[in-house]
Amino acid sequence: SSYFKYKEGILHCESVPVTNIKSWLEKCGITTSSPVFVYSKTQIVENVEAYQNALQKLGRPTMLNYAMKANMNPTLMSIMKDQGCSVTLVSGLELKLAIQLGFKPENLLLNGNGKQNWEIELAVRNDCMLNIDSLFNLKQTINVARNLKTRARVLLRVNPDIDPKVHEYICTGSKETKFGINEEDLDKILADIKEEPLIHLIGLHCHIGSTITDINVFRESAIVIYNFYKRLKADGYKHLNVINLGGGLGINYKQHAAKTSRPDFSHVDTDHVTCIPSPAEVISVIDDVFGDDNVSLILEPGRSLIGNSGILVCTVLGVKHGHSQNYIVVDGAMTEVIRPALYDAYHHIDLAEPSNHRNKDVYNIVGPVCESGDFLGKDRYLSTPHEGCSLVVFDVGAYCSSMGSNYNMRVHPAEVLINGRNIDVIRRPDTLDDILTPYTPVNTL
Ligand code: LLP
Repeated sequence: SSYFKYKEGILHCESVPVTNIKSWLEKCGITTSSPVFVYSKTQIVENVEAYQNALQKLGRPTMLNYAMKANMNPTLMSIMKDQGCSVTLVSGLELKLAIQLGFKPENLLLNGNGKQNWEIELAVRNDCMLNIDSLFNLKQTINVARNLKTRARVLLRVNPDIDPKVHEYICTGSKETKFGINEEDLDKILADIKEEPLIHLIGLHCHIGSTITDINVFRESAIVIYNFYKRLKADGYKHLNVINLGGGLGINYKQHAAKTSRPDFSHVDTDHVTCIPSPAEVISVIDDVFGDDNVSLILEPGRSLIGNSGILVCTVLGVKHGHSQNYIVVDGAMTEVIRPALYDAYHHIDLAEPSNHRNKDVYNIVGPVCESGDFLGKDRYLSTPHEGCSLVVFDVGAYCSSMGSNYNMRVHPAEVLINGRNIDVIRRPDTLDDILTPYTPVNTL
């Protein structure tokens, strides 16, 4: 269920009317109060539970690794931690933050196709797991392990050559992508690992893409990886006991477009309401593939843990009529929600409150950034908003705040966490000093 619902025409996050948040922030002394990211704690907890409950029912060791690139807000990550998650990360600073937040280092996994030596060193020193993505990455890791005289626990990232049927920018599982070990290097990598006592091959990893809606691609990749796993087991890799099938499960970005969400005055867009398999369904399909084998399973979802838990509440600056298009200009932009511009992604958009105007029209919803690509939604049939009206972009919990930028010297907005009636500021908006501090001159010799 969703924790963003209309009550008497006003959108609520849990028990809080989202139209109250701006003045509440202002009372707290936060004057840059719009746009604002609003997250529902209960939604996050429920999303994590859906995975944890299904994983705990399996008779095998499992681990739920939150892919923190989706949203690295420390408060939100701590909720994941309290729910028993570990983390998959892709950079040294992500690793440092996860350790700072108290995640167990030995359960962290450093993934990535381009790791710097200091990042590998940090992971090895903390006994984290590392993905090997290429021959050169194995060489780097061997060098680090030898220098530190410390073992490195590694997984091999392989491409099962499966088409996840998603936007090409977020497709990673086909043969030709920059991720994963290519077939030609595989034998050499396996041979080198066999000869190096400091490299412990503990597992295999794949991640075939993101926003997946077809459950069969999870089954197919589980089959490919499991067959490879059995082959390596037979070849005597004695530390091997983990299969990590990555993340990638999509969410229903059209959930709020469905009829039931707002019967009173919203446009009904039921055209493309997609059907997404549940975490329990995906987990059961994978578990079937492994059968009685007691192999450990790691999953590392990002979007499906956090995507539907956040909205961006914007303020309407004005309405504008072009030659053949109408525009609603809001104070949120591609700097907060880049997915429409980058992947042509759909995020549902609606007014958060009744409009003073009676009429409706088809609008492009655009921000103030100096790019024609700066749009949040196109061709949306909406009530004509009045100036100052709140407008909401839905399902921005994943890959929005974390992909945000200060382009045009825009302020990264405040973020608030709602829990029942409770509101907490979990990120204050940027100030000019925040943005300028790194430019302070460094004394050079
Ligand atoms: N594991 C690995 C190795 C990954 O590369 C990713 C995401 C995940 C797990 C988590 O995938 P998820 O469950 O969130 O789909 N910026 C894009 C998504 C990029 C995903 C990158 N890798 C977007 O906004 O759609």
